[in-house]
Amino acid sequence: MAVSTGQEEQLLIGGRWVGAEDGKRFDVTNPATGDVVGSIPNGSAGDVQAAIAAAAAALDDWKAMPAIARARILRRSADLMRERKDEIAAVMTAEQGKPLAEAAGEVEYAASFMEWFGGEAERVYGQVVPPLNPANRALVLRQPVGVVAAITPWNFPAAMMTRKLGPAMAAGCTSVVKPASATPLTAALMLRAIEDAGAPPGVVNLVTSRSAGMVAETIFSDRRVRKISFTGSTEVGKDLIRRSADQVKRLSLELGGHAPYLIFDDADLEEATAGLIASKFRNAGQTCVCANRVYVQKGIYKEFVDLLGQKVAKLVVGPGDRPGVNVGPLIDSRGVDKADEHVQDALSRGARLVTGGSRLTDGEFARGSFYAPTVLEDVTPEMLISYEETFGPVAGITKFGSEEEALRLANDSIYGLCAYFHTRDYARLLRVAEKLEYGIIGVNTGIISAASVPFGGVKESGYGREGGSDGIDEYLDTKYVLVAGVGI
Ligand code: SIN
Repeated sequence: MAVSTGQEEQLLIGGRWVGAEDGKRFDVTNPATGDVVGSIPNGSAGDVQAAIAAAAAALDDWKAMPAIARARILRRSADLMRERKDEIAAVMTAEQGKPLAEAAGEVEYAASFMEWFGGEAERVYGQVVPPLNPANRALVLRQPVGVVAAITPWNFPAAMMTRKLGPAMAAGCTSVVKPASATPLTAALMLRAIEDAGAPPGVVNLVTSRSAGMVAETIFSDRRVRKISFTGSTEVGKDLIRRSADQVKRLSLELGGHAPYLIFDDADLEEATAGLIASKFRNAGQTCVCANRVYVQKGIYKEFVDLLGQKVAKLVVGPGDRPGVNVGPLIDSRGVDKADEHVQDALSRGARLVTGGSRLTDGEFARGSFYAPTVLEDVTPEMLISYEETFGPVAGITKFGSEEEALRLANDSIYGLCAYFHTRDYARLLRVAEKLEYGIIGVNTGIISAASVPFGGVKESGYGREGGSDGIDEYLDTKYVLVAGVGI
């Protein structure tokens, strides 16, 4: 299904789809063509406050609802997202750019968070702890933190939202969602599914705005908001940490990454090149978990680079709604500028171009923000690509000798989100997985994501975990209750 223009959306506040209080709207554009896809309200501070008030008003009833009833709403949301997959995917491709098959896969991935956390809603257990005095009872309760603000990114506009809303709703929290201004239409469709599944008014609220700073200011200064979950850059994450200090608000931060991708001499080359391509070129390289540094052991280096270059040269670039396209546009021209800056910097410092290496501007590419899938070799640590997140379809390869050298290079980063390696040696598999300083490790695969596992980083990649049984903990407070004089 192709989407051209006319997707008009609204804010969702307290169960009503409304315009901004001052009537302002902004256009959403297609990164493949520059065409307007639709529009959405440009919310003000008053709209954010109204959404927080709606979430606060809905909180008591939502947390008092039996867990099984909340769970049903989550599971029904997942069903509706799946039923509406084609429609949501078409809008996502139009505003975000990713190929339709990837967009449909993301809707499925997004639905899986609602379904999985539907299960978790029924398993929020407390504890009865042996008391010091046997006549007393010591209880540990797990209770919802309260109103949550979810600030979500443009690279996965559906899944990064449900990765927050799924556990928040399951825990009994109510939420205000602020999606990225590049991709608000997908967010609105996802929230329509949650609302149609029976979420009571105010349990989820949507505020869109071009002023991310104003939204952050309003959220952080409002005492009703007890928790903020953010996915985005490390730079913004640090700003949120500073802002959170004033009212000691809880944060979960899934920030930038700079994943090393190690290929040892004993790796299966077909599997390793396929894994690297899946990691690096998914969503045109615009993922926090994608390979950013590729380290290949010297015994297979040449064979690996040749095979990778051949495969990458065959990737089809184009608008995401065209069948057969593997790599869509980048989100905007700044994304293209950054990819090109990394490539030009590497070439000027002695890297060798294996394939790609340029902006795509001819013919149908002229109106969009496209960059050729690129492989560079002989990359060295002082090149930008070795320490800055590229967020584009560029793979830079470095040769290594020993396992120790590979680990040293891989761990030499301020980031610690995700790392990958390929080996057939079971002892190395465990040793290297333990020594990599990252929150997520992929072994013999380039794709690691699922609703049922904890996703998150160490170092400057953030803190907190999303997904898995750790995911719901982020939305629960622990309360200790001592009941004296109960008797033996
Ligand atoms: C991200 O990179 O931002 C999320 C990727 C994923 O969940 O697979």
